[in-house]
Amino acid sequence: MSEKKGRVFSGIRPTGRAHLGNYLGAFKNYVALQDDYECVYCIVDLHALTTVEDTLNLKQNTYDLTLDLLAVGIRPEETILFVQSHVPQVTELHTMLSMVTPIGKLTDLPTFKEKVRQNPNNVNYGLVGYPVLMTADIVLYKSDLVPVGIDQAPHLEFARETVRSFNYRYSANVLIEPQMKNTEVLKVLGIDGKEKMGKSLDNHIELAADPDATRLRVMQMVTDPQRMKRTDPGNPDVCNVYTMHKTFTPEEDVQTINAECRKAGIGCVDCKKRFAENLNKALEPFRSKRAELAARPDQVHSVLEDGAKRARRIAEKTMLEVRAAVQLP
Ligand code: TRP
Repeated sequence: MSEKKGRVFSGIRPTGRAHLGNYLGAFKNYVALQDDYECVYCIVDLHALTTVEDTLNLKQNTYDLTLDLLAVGIRPEETILFVQSHVPQVTELHTMLSMVTPIGKLTDLPTFKEKVRQNPNNVNYGLVGYPVLMTADIVLYKSDLVPVGIDQAPHLEFARETVRSFNYRYSANVLIEPQMKNTEVLKVLGIDGKEKMGKSLDNHIELAADPDATRLRVMQMVTDPQRMKRTDPGNPDVCNVYTMHKTFTPEEDVQTINAECRKAGIGCVDCKKRFAENLNKALEPFRSKRAELAARPDQVHSVLEDGAKRARRIAEKTMLEVRAAVQLP
């Protein structure tokens, strides 16, 4: 893989079946990066343990996410796709990195404060250390580049600082400072047209749902809030359905919809019907590939086993250097 530009790493939380927001905000880019980089994609089951609701159905969620990732176009022959806990070296590195991490730095992070607000009764030690484990993920595989959304930027900055602290403390240059690659091209809004699409708000459109369920969901989408009646002209610039059309509808049709909406030539119901049709058409190849994979669970599991094997090889090599740097007896 020497012709590639470097190693990309990303961790994905197994929170169940993926939705359009996951696809447009992250997966699509993970697929594209495979052309230029050596990619390592990790399903972070240990991170999921930090929150109670993600701990439930962890096996099923991991399996579903694996199907989704393979069906969108992750190529396991090149890319290393694996489950975090299958490479136990990450927990060892986590312990070592925690020794160069001031507690205040962790408790000051906006992501930590947000979790505490959401779940004041479950502020566990693992949750505080979440960014340390994330750093261990990244540096264990000597990753150059980490594609993440803007919400993860503080964690990436933390990872960079932790690498510097470690290398300085042990006068070693064994860990590589990762670069962040901000990939959030657009914030995908949910069917409410207001909040970011996500499962917790139940405003998402699942990738793997059947066409009828998808159509029902699309018909619930909120359009231009100013447009009250069918005869009112609409404003596509503030309509989430129109925004989605731009991704899933052929360019000429997008322009027609724009013009027609502005002069009330097309109503929101029709506009959504067309979107549902185009979306279902676009998702068809994904759905049939996913169904094919689901019919062969052994093959899916062997992808993860093979990924873990390749990941462990890199991990153990890094840990030999780390243990030597720390001068463990
Ligand atoms: N924290 C990331 C999230 O919440 C998931 C993650 C874990 C991750 N380890 C990572 C992302 C390493 C990038 C690199 O989505």
